Amino acid sequence: MMHGVICMLIEWKDRYSVKIDVIDEHHMKLFDMLNRSSVIKLQDNNQDDLSRLLYELINYAHYHFYTEEKLMMKYDYQNIDLHILEHVSFTNKVLSYERDLIDSHNNISEDVFDFVKNWLFDHIQKIDSDMGEFISSKHYV
Ligand SMILES: [Fe+2]
Repeated sequence: MMHGVICMLIEWKDRYSVKIDVIDEHHMKLFDMLNRSSVIKLQDNNQDDLSRLLYELINYAHYHFYTEEKLMMKYDYQNIDLHILEHVSFTNKVLSYERDLIDSHNNISEDVFDFVKNWLFDHIQKIDSDMGEFISSKHYV
């Protein structure tokens, strides 16, 4: 069992850094929550724990997006509109997963965490990394 858990965990790597410490810390915390979801699923698949974790993750993602958006405004980042649009479409997608769960009284579907994981990897390495290049070149402190 433990071997399976270890295989599913995602590990932070230096190449995920977006060159802004506070944003890297947020991303690490999101990785951490995704890893907790994998552990819960593999150990006892407790649906209450999973839905609590999903709420925690959604709240934290909102706080995280808000932090990024404030930084982009402060440094007059040229691609801010596109970036905010990505955050909005992520939020809508996750909320629709949540609505489905409530409507159908179903167990939490595994793919909501998979969706978050895939989205986050892609978003960090493209959209956030572009923002980080720009802001760090403005002598971000
Ligand atoms: Fe972002």
